[in-house]
Amino acid sequence: MEPVKVAIIYYSATGTVHALARAAGEGADKAGAEVRLRKVRELAPREAIDARPEWARHVHDTADVAEATLDDLVWADAVLFGTPTRFGNPASQLRTFMEGTGALWFQGRLADKVYSAFTASNTAHGGQESTILALGNTFHHWGGIIVPPGYTDPVQFRSGNPYGTSHVAGDGPPGEVTLEAARHQARRVVETAAALKAGRPRSAPRGDVKIDV
Ligand SMILES: Cc1cc2nc3c(=O)[nH]c(=O)nc-3n(C[C@H](O)[C@H](O)[C@H](O)COP(=O)(O)O)c2cc1C
Repeated sequence: MEPVKVAIIYYSATGTVHALARAAGEGADKAGAEVRLRKVRELAPREAIDARPEWARHVHDTADVAEATLDDLVWADAVLFGTPTRFGNPASQLRTFMEGTGALWFQGRLADKVYSAFTASNTAHGGQESTILALGNTFHHWGGIIVPPGYTDPVQFRSGNPYGTSHVAGDGPPGEVTLEAARHQARRVVETAAALKAGRPRSAPRGDVKIDV
């Protein structure tokens, strides 16, 4: 069987979610997947970015990370989405990318893929679960198969979020426990996608499926 294709699509202003995305990429790679790590397009005005040195630095440091395209979604068997929380919701940069998927959704081309999400917030109760669950609303519309980490690995009892890997950025950059949780989450996504892929007959792209009545 050809390897599972995993797209890790994220937004990060100051690097926290980017670190989680990279760890997820490591986990997926180690699990045998072909991985695309992609940032979504930055939409904030340059003045806003430059007003915060850590934001400007991160934009500079990740200039070589490719931007996500709709083709990455079509290509992938599984997609992990990462976003900082913004008032308890996903960042508008990631939402804008997701809201560009209308045609693919209509053609059914986002259905039957595995989806999972991770996040960061500044405070411990600042909206991590609500952010991940909000992304889940869209996965439902797409007809996706949502794979949360749950408590399926000992690291989950230490990192503590069954909805998806999460980090409190106010405590500093993510440490080894959180990074290992991200690796585990990605591994689980790959294993689930591989099982689905193995059990599914090869078929035409969903939009081209003909139904005999
Ligand atoms: C407009 C805005 C809204 C935010 N809302 C929240 C929030 O509701 N709860 C919280 O804990 N942190 C909030 N934050 C902090 C970010 O979530 C935090 O800086 C981010 O998780 C860091 O991730 P990054 O380094 O990948 O950008 C907010 C930040 C901004 C700019």
